[in-house]
Amino acid sequence: MVDAHKLDLLEKVFTPAAPLEDQALFAGRIEQLAELMLLTRQKGMHGILYGERGVGKTSLVNIFKIITEASFDKNSVIVAKLSCYSEDNFEEVWQKVFQEIKVPNRLFAGEERGDRPAARLDGTTRLSAVIKDDFVYTSKNIVRTLSNLKTEKLVIIFDEFDRLEERFDKKLFADVIKNVSDSHGHIKFIIVGVSEDVTNLIGEHTSIRRNLKEVHIPLMRNVELKEIISKGMDKLQLDIDPEAEASIVTLSGGYPYYTHMLAYYACYTAISNKKPRIEMGDVHWAAQKAIADSKEVIRQAFQLATLANQRNNYKEVLYACALCNTDEHNYFQASDLERIMTVIMERPFKVPQYARHLSNLSTLERGSILVCIGENRKKRYKFRDPLMRTYIRLLAFQAGIKI
Ligand SMILES: Nc1ncnc2c1ncn2[C@@H]1O[C@H](COP(=O)(O)OP(=O)(O)OP(=O)(O)O)[C@@H](O)[C@H]1O
Ligand SMILES: [Mg+2]
Repeated sequence: MVDAHKLDLLEKVFTPAAPLEDQALFAGRIEQLAELMLLTRQKGMHGILYGERGVGKTSLVNIFKIITEASFDKNSVIVAKLSCYSEDNFEEVWQKVFQEIKVPNRLFAGEERGDRPAARLDGTTRLSAVIKDDFVYTSKNIVRTLSNLKTEKLVIIFDEFDRLEERFDKKLFADVIKNVSDSHGHIKFIIVGVSEDVTNLIGEHTSIRRNLKEVHIPLMRNVELKEIISKGMDKLQLDIDPEAEASIVTLSGGYPYYTHMLAYYACYTAISNKKPRIEMGDVHWAAQKAIADSKEVIRQAFQLATLANQRNNYKEVLYACALCNTDEHNYFQASDLERIMTVIMERPFKVPQYARHLSNLSTLERGSILVCIGENRKKRYKFRDPLMRTYIRLLAFQAGIKI
């Protein structure tokens, strides 16, 4: 009989569609966590945490919240985390913040103490339950209310901040940051978003620039991805063939999202077939499922980029682009492809033999699948959509290309 208990557990262990909330399954990210912890101790400083889609930003702040709450005395720190939505305005964002701030009852200043027992929750009360009904969310009122909380540290994490649009007044938000930084150093904001550009995230407020520390969340290193797999395997009490593990790591291309997806499918098929050990065959099955799960736009874009009336090498060049090493911002140069092109084509293959392909792949005609920056010999390329890189890695894997 198939182990239904293990399949149930699998849903909790490898969760490609959901950020992590269980510290026991959290892998790597030691430096980024340390940087955030340091930030919470630096007076008047706030964090801007940015990184590409799916690199693990939400998971990181989830675990940071758990660790911070555990490392301070229970009554001396409050950490609130909320997600922003495109339709939220300034007031709605702060309403959510006040909802998420759970204040230990004993910390309320006497005159502000609410008289509403229903709002009490495990010895804490949501801030939203104790403010006056006619409370107006102005920058001044917000700062005053937050600073009145008698806590040593108040950390507020704004996830998905880059989703906010025109309805949200960035200038008012910057006023809050400025005010808090000047007079209430124990209050910390951590702003999480995809954009590399801080100006995009918080607007043009040069005066608060020096209060903001940028923390880049890079793609995960292979050792970190390997740790995700081994922690999951331990929990599931499954074994994995080293070659199968290495394939999942390489295919993931730095994205924990793909590690979770491939490990999930590989374990699913192994458990369904009552096997205690994941093998290469399971990873191939998982890769096939991951390709099938890929978005239609990705598949169409790949087709457009490799369109051919006659034999050409666009597909092979894209395989090499997806498999080569990149810098920390995912860029590569034409020469980075030589070794892999030589393996794929099974004969020496040099830059002049595919330079034209690279240029064309950055044109509209081939769907601008690559972005090109720089001039002449300094040209660098990357995939316009980072998900494309992994999609092509999966195709190359299924085509039997080994590098
Ligand atoms: N350090 C980690 N250890 C284990 N799994 C992780 C880690 N970081 C992220 N993951 C997993 O990777 C996937 C993506 O993570 P997460 O949702 O946190 O990324 P994100 O950057 O917030 O994505 P988005 O940009 O879409 O909001 C999830 O399945 C999550 O469980
Ligand atoms: Mg997220």
